[in-house]
Amino acid sequence: MSQRMQGQPMIVMSEDAQRVKDKDAQEHNITAARAVADAVRSTLGPKGMDKMLVDSMGDVTITNDGVTILKEMDIDNPTAEMIIEVAETQEDEAGDGTTTAVAVTGELLKNAQDLLEQDIHPTAVIKGFHLASEKAREEIDNIAEQVDTDDEDLLRKVAETSMTGKGAELNKEALSQIIVDAVRGVTVEDTVDLEYVNIETQTGRAAGESELLEGAVIDKDPVHDNMPTSVGDAKILLLNEAVEVEETDVDTEVSITDPDQLKSFLDREEAQLKEKVEQIKATGANVVFCQKGIDDLAQHYLAKEGILAVRRSKKSDIQFLREVLNVNIVSDLDSASEDDVGTGSVTRDDADELFYVKGGDDAHGVTLLLRGSTDHVVDELERGITDALDVVAQTVSDGRVVSGGGAIEVELASRLRDYSDSVEGREQLAVEAFADSLELVPRVLAENAGLDSIDTLVDLRAAHEDGDKRAGLNVFSGDVEDTFDSGVVEPAHAKEQALSSATEAANLVLKIDDIISAGDLSTDKGGDEGGAPGGAPGGMGGMGGMGGMGGAM
Ligand SMILES: Nc1ncnc2c1ncn2[C@@H]1O[C@H](COP(=O)(O)OP(=O)(O)OP(=O)(O)O)[C@@H](O)[C@H]1O
Ligand SMILES: [Mg+2]
Repeated sequence: MSQRMQGQPMIVMSEDAQRVKDKDAQEHNITAARAVADAVRSTLGPKGMDKMLVDSMGDVTITNDGVTILKEMDIDNPTAEMIIEVAETQEDEAGDGTTTAVAVTGELLKNAQDLLEQDIHPTAVIKGFHLASEKAREEIDNIAEQVDTDDEDLLRKVAETSMTGKGAELNKEALSQIIVDAVRGVTVEDTVDLEYVNIETQTGRAAGESELLEGAVIDKDPVHDNMPTSVGDAKILLLNEAVEVEETDVDTEVSITDPDQLKSFLDREEAQLKEKVEQIKATGANVVFCQKGIDDLAQHYLAKEGILAVRRSKKSDIQFLREVLNVNIVSDLDSASEDDVGTGSVTRDDADELFYVKGGDDAHGVTLLLRGSTDHVVDELERGITDALDVVAQTVSDGRVVSGGGAIEVELASRLRDYSDSVEGREQLAVEAFADSLELVPRVLAENAGLDSIDTLVDLRAAHEDGDKRAGLNVFSGDVEDTFDSGVVEPAHAKEQALSSATEAANLVLKIDDIISAGDLSTDKGGDEGGAPGGAPGGMGGMGGMGGMGGAM
């Protein structure tokens, strides 16, 4: 080996490693990113279709939600994962607009690729995109309309726009009212705290029967038949300790030699349980929601005391009850006192087998009880509702909204084209490419609605040239109209967020000119997850990576 090294480039990477450089690296990355963007495009807008995702366990998700699709897709490509992060950031920061953010990222990269092919240096593209994104954010603020956050009518429209095209759409009138009421219920002086909104789902009834309830809904049964099921003047204890015999730390073996010994052993256990029930009683509680187990015998004692007890409550339910009742969660009965008990009421809904728990006068917290015929229906309903809650909350706290149906994007594109005149050098082309990328939104909205996307864009541009800032596409009629008036309204913040994360992700991808991978770039890391069929080096792992560097270097 040492002789052969003379005059040869030194190989510092392992034989399995792959390296792709310069144009090839950019092409590889852009292709991967665009593949991800293309995967969600068809779901954009009211006429977007849904996707059915089947995971490796055979569980099925049917959804229109961009971020959900990408998270479930089991993508195993580092660049593609960066694009998924765009969707995740959008979900965290804005709650809605994940499909838009990803689709725009893909389009930015597609247009960047054209520029790179014209030998424009990536740094010029990056700089131009950055300038355009800054300008676009500024213009969103100029275009956005400040609305009265008490305007329920408008808030309902914001909720409906976000629900359109999702499972929630069919009942959007009823649901948008519930959402607006929920947000109002947790708003104090324009500060919205969605922590106080809990979502509970139930299958078996129609989505239109969903309702908003004050306080919490607990989907559990009492532990014992002889317990009260409804308690009007409830003193409620939240417990995170098992009402069971305490297990010894060490495994002890008790060998019993005569019946008396057995009896005293059992007596001791009984006394311990009785003691715990006494402690509960001493706090004054007549209702206990326990996150852990309750022993059969303890259940019996509790029933005898007339205390309603529920065991193995969900952690999230207990935490929400803490907010509703404004009490502590007790994790050690030895130190529990009257102060740990919250007042309120507990009502049993026998038909649905639910408890409704309301807090006292100073209580806050509401529950959206979502209903749907099957699990798949309620799950998609819940995703649509959480998006709508987020956008309504944003509108209440921020007050700025823009017109949807592509109106904001076309207006921004037109302003960016004007702005590009003032940009020097190659960057100007990148600003124009950025403007073109924004118009992807109305194009795809049209495409998904079966309309001619070029005609639509021409009409939209003409309307905006005439100064009609709110001209967007009505996907149902195919007409260009004032979408603000027709109620297609979205929070400005979500659009700003979508543009900045799309730009950052695109620029991140464009800046890479060298990919050095410890393994093969095109296949699964795991191997047994049934990656792409025909994924090239099937037996590579076992064969010691022979020829691993061949194609790449
Ligand atoms: N009635 C409507 N007419 C025209 N366009 C509409 C209408 N309702 C919504 N839109 C547009 O649809 C787009 C939003 O579509 P969609 O909700 O499928 O994607 P998203 O919000 O980007 O992502 P996701 O909801 O999956 O997180 C926005 O551009 C919005 O303006
Ligand atoms: Mg949406």
